[in-house]
Amino acid sequence: MKIAMVGSGYVGLVSGACFADFGHDVVCIDNDPKKIEALEKGVMPIYEPGLADLVETNVRGGRLSFSNDLGSAIEGAQAIFIAVGTPSRRGDGHADLTYVYQVAKEIGEKLSGPAVIVTKSTVPVGTGDEVERILSESGTPHKFAVVSNPEFLREGAAIGDFKRPDRIVIGAEDDFGREVMSEVYRPLFLNRAPILFTGRRTSELIKYAGNAFLATKITFINEMADLCEKVGADVQDVARGIGLDNRIGAKFLHAGPGYGGSCFPKDTLALLKTAEDFDSPVRIVEAVVKVNEARKRAMGRKVIEALGGSAEARGRKVAMLGLTFKPNTDDMRDSPAIAVAQALDDAGAIVAAYDPEGMELAKPLMPWVEMKANAYEAIDGADAIVIVTEWDAFRALDLNRVKSIANTPLMVDLRNVYDPADMAEKGFTYIGVGRG
Ligand code: UDX
Repeated sequence: MKIAMVGSGYVGLVSGACFADFGHDVVCIDNDPKKIEALEKGVMPIYEPGLADLVETNVRGGRLSFSNDLGSAIEGAQAIFIAVGTPSRRGDGHADLTYVYQVAKEIGEKLSGPAVIVTKSTVPVGTGDEVERILSESGTPHKFAVVSNPEFLREGAAIGDFKRPDRIVIGAEDDFGREVMSEVYRPLFLNRAPILFTGRRTSELIKYAGNAFLATKITFINEMADLCEKVGADVQDVARGIGLDNRIGAKFLHAGPGYGGSCFPKDTLALLKTAEDFDSPVRIVEAVVKVNEARKRAMGRKVIEALGGSAEARGRKVAMLGLTFKPNTDDMRDSPAIAVAQALDDAGAIVAAYDPEGMELAKPLMPWVEMKANAYEAIDGADAIVIVTEWDAFRALDLNRVKSIANTPLMVDLRNVYDPADMAEKGFTYIGVGRG
């Protein structure tokens, strides 16, 4: 089956490479000629474990190619995916659908045979209807259907998530759409991945509801962590204690500096806007957005307090370990590290940092931070060490060495990587999250 993937960003590239790996004939399209040129040379525009190899294998196998030219690339494709960005619109938080609609228009103008147009980008409820209208208005003589097929993959684990999904959601309004999508995902049916056929609007909402629920779960445990600190309880045990209840589930109950990334902040905001437009407020999500936003900067203040308050923080050296919004990615979008670094700079602290993959993208966001070649260089002479992202590289630091090169053995562990009793025994002043 021939598949065209319009947009070779995170979702498009991972999905395209995985579909090719399943044996489909895939062409990934992008309007950025530099990106296509680089991809043809095997250079990935993003850091994602396993992606470069997967792309190379499938290009070599003749199943995956890249193109700048949408018209020729979609020729003969039975499924055309739209996987372009839907950033938050400046000013109002609505999802910006300019790229989605532009692509829909171009597909309509250039369609050369029957095809199913699939929105894989995260799009607000009703976008599929609009894409259908745009295609109809293009006057294309060819049969088409518009389908919603949201993507649930996590950065850093994207290939595994794509190939072994918890579920596949397909929102289609007719048999043509359902049949073609069944063919697209046939290799996964054989893996017994549950597949859920719904209406198109329902499918669009599932994506937002899922992300908002996960963001709520994280925010809930983060507030429990704050309470734990006040009442002398341990949030790790609270999370385990509630998570073992199957109705709650153990995942996404890890307290930390607040969620970031390309999806949760943007999608929760977009859901609020949809709810507002339809006059059906989602107050829990409203609270989640506010609480999470405030939390990121509060984490900077937590470090300042650990240093003895703002009067003491001025001129002190802080080592930040980890900058990306989570490990195994170079993605800095909405990373809590940005707010932490900002609060520290505002307090007059001197910040040095190390991140295994994120420093290049982090630099312009925090030009006052000195980027170091490794964790120990950042820690050298530090008055406080802050773990912001739980990269594996920070789980097994040589603590004797850390102690000997730091100015003060003070660690603020925003990801609860270390054990408080263990750290105390090793002579550290240790402050975790919610470990009262
Ligand atoms: C998320 C969704 O998981 C995925 O299904 C969707 O398609 C895109 O958005 P992603 O943004 O890649 O994926 O990362 P995820 O692993 O979900 O983490 C998001 C943020 O929540 C990170 O900042 C992470 O540190 C934080 N988080 C996650 C916690 O603070 N605690 C947790 O228990 C889990």
